[in-house]
Amino acid sequence: MLIVGSGAAGLATALHLADHLHVTVLSKDAIRGGATNRAQGGVAAVTDGADSFESHIQDTIAAGAGLCVEEVVRFAVAKAPRTIDHIVGLGLQFDQDGAALHLTKEGGHSHRRVLHVADATGAAIAKTLVERATAHPNISLVSGRVAIDVITAKKLGAQPNRVLGAYVYDCQTDAVEVFEAPFVVLATGGASKVYLYTSNPDGATGDGIAMAWRAGCRVANMEFNQFHPTCLFHPEARSFLISEAVRGEGGKLLLPDGSRFMDRFDSAAELACRDVVARAIDHEMKRVGAPCVYLDVSHRPAHLLEKRFPTILARCLQFGIDLRREPIPVVPAAHYTCGGVIVDLASRTDIPGLYAVGEAAYTGLHGANRLASNSLLECLVFAAAAAADIARRHAADDGPRLVGTTRSAPPDWDESRVSDSDEQVVIAHNWTELRRFMWDYVGIVRSNKRLERAQHRIDLLKREIHDYYSRHRVSADLIELRNLVHVAELIVRSAAMRRESRGLHYTLDYPRPAAHASPSVIYPAADPLDVLQPVPVPRPPSRVRRSLAKRTGS
Ligand code: FAD
Ligand code: SIN
Repeated sequence: MLIVGSGAAGLATALHLADHLHVTVLSKDAIRGGATNRAQGGVAAVTDGADSFESHIQDTIAAGAGLCVEEVVRFAVAKAPRTIDHIVGLGLQFDQDGAALHLTKEGGHSHRRVLHVADATGAAIAKTLVERATAHPNISLVSGRVAIDVITAKKLGAQPNRVLGAYVYDCQTDAVEVFEAPFVVLATGGASKVYLYTSNPDGATGDGIAMAWRAGCRVANMEFNQFHPTCLFHPEARSFLISEAVRGEGGKLLLPDGSRFMDRFDSAAELACRDVVARAIDHEMKRVGAPCVYLDVSHRPAHLLEKRFPTILARCLQFGIDLRREPIPVVPAAHYTCGGVIVDLASRTDIPGLYAVGEAAYTGLHGANRLASNSLLECLVFAAAAAADIARRHAADDGPRLVGTTRSAPPDWDESRVSDSDEQVVIAHNWTELRRFMWDYVGIVRSNKRLERAQHRIDLLKREIHDYYSRHRVSADLIELRNLVHVAELIVRSAAMRRESRGLHYTLDYPRPAAHASPSVIYPAADPLDVLQPVPVPRPPSRVRRSLAKRTGS
């Protein structure tokens, strides 16, 4: 079977499955190149006797601003302790406080319940999962491969519909391969790279969301893009995150004149939910005309800061900022995609055999705004759920049997009508243009007019990118750009559908929440610009087939 993505979601799914079947895990970047490796704050789970499932559930629902699916929240919260035991069993050591786990606090949590490994929890999780996966004889980790599209029976005109595999671009050889697989898991992470400023790695281009949508899956809640309130403001920092745990440990937000402001916006002040804090910072920056605000934790003992935030301290020092003595300049940046491919409690999408796990998925857990540190939890909980479902179906011979009954086998990728890219500048230009207008028009504060402007530009870009894509050989940048424009459209369409302000979606035209709210669901379109079908050519025999066509020039 095939898993696209080697972050927490992909690798945890692989490890749960590897005793049952062989798993190939693809990553377009380095195996640890996803958002997981950057996660700082930690994983939320109830592990302390003074805390309770009900409290974690209510905090998640309150942060989600009326759009969490309660059944899903209860499912994830109840499974959290077992999930933590599982990853500890794989070798991860969370920070201890004597004999007990050390728990930190983040915005929106009413208890200390965030387990962490100093301020580099994601790197520790990634290291543990990668070491385990590398050592497992049934897991193949393959980097430098970009999945382009999933292949379905429906796309080939066959019945019943199910996933058959994926087209995958090899960054080394420039060839496009067919990976046939009865089960495909999209664990491709989020789409925050659609914005100009983001805490995310370059690969966060929403590939899985775009692929699933093109294949015929529904997506939901794409308007709820989370902006993290505090990314380092420095021209060379590339939006390095300053963890919410810094505020959890007493950090205060200040205006350039040194005054606090968060208590004017929320009684929880700096520990209000992320949507509130990000919006307050955006408002204050615009009000006083400042390029950033400041996060001051220098009143806490230096030895505590050195122990709790070694990564953040070291990174800030590189830019001449010593957080033990002075405030850190910070700004909000795009951080997390709350929406995604609609899945059920077993991580199943609308297409049999196709699963989505992690940030690429919409489970219903986060609603209109994700509670801090619930994302890694979601990755791990839903990885186990997906694996259990796949293992059960595999044992019942569901996937292979159904694939076998599909008459049309996936055709090879056809490059007979395309030429080498002649103007890379088109790709670079469109990337930048897209990310800039998404930041300006579809950012923290929106309006009908801004969304209309964004949609107008998306229409133009979509045509241009479609034209370019259909005439030239694919490259990693082109594949990502095509996905970005589709994701941008999903965000804008979802935002335009929501005639209210709720959670992370704030619009000047409807500044208040509506009395009743529901998720914004987008159904797959029949728009020919959205879906490109390769033309079938005769099929070589091997199971994983490399396309004969190779890019010949540069
Ligand atoms: P990722 O870890 O992003 O992995 C995606 C994988 O998919 C990568 O391997 C990538 O190469 C691959 N991929 C993508 N597209 C393709 C394609 N087309 N073909 C092949 N491979 C592809 N959450 C928390 O709960 N707690 C935290 O403390 C926390 N801190 C964070 C700090 C930062 C700076 C960031 C950016 C996020 C943080 N988050 C945190 C969010 C959380 O880290 C992510 O939501 C989570 O790690 C996503 O995991 P994932 O496995 O879904 O995706
Ligand atoms: C952080 O450490 O502030 C990020 C936590 C998260 O995104 O959940």
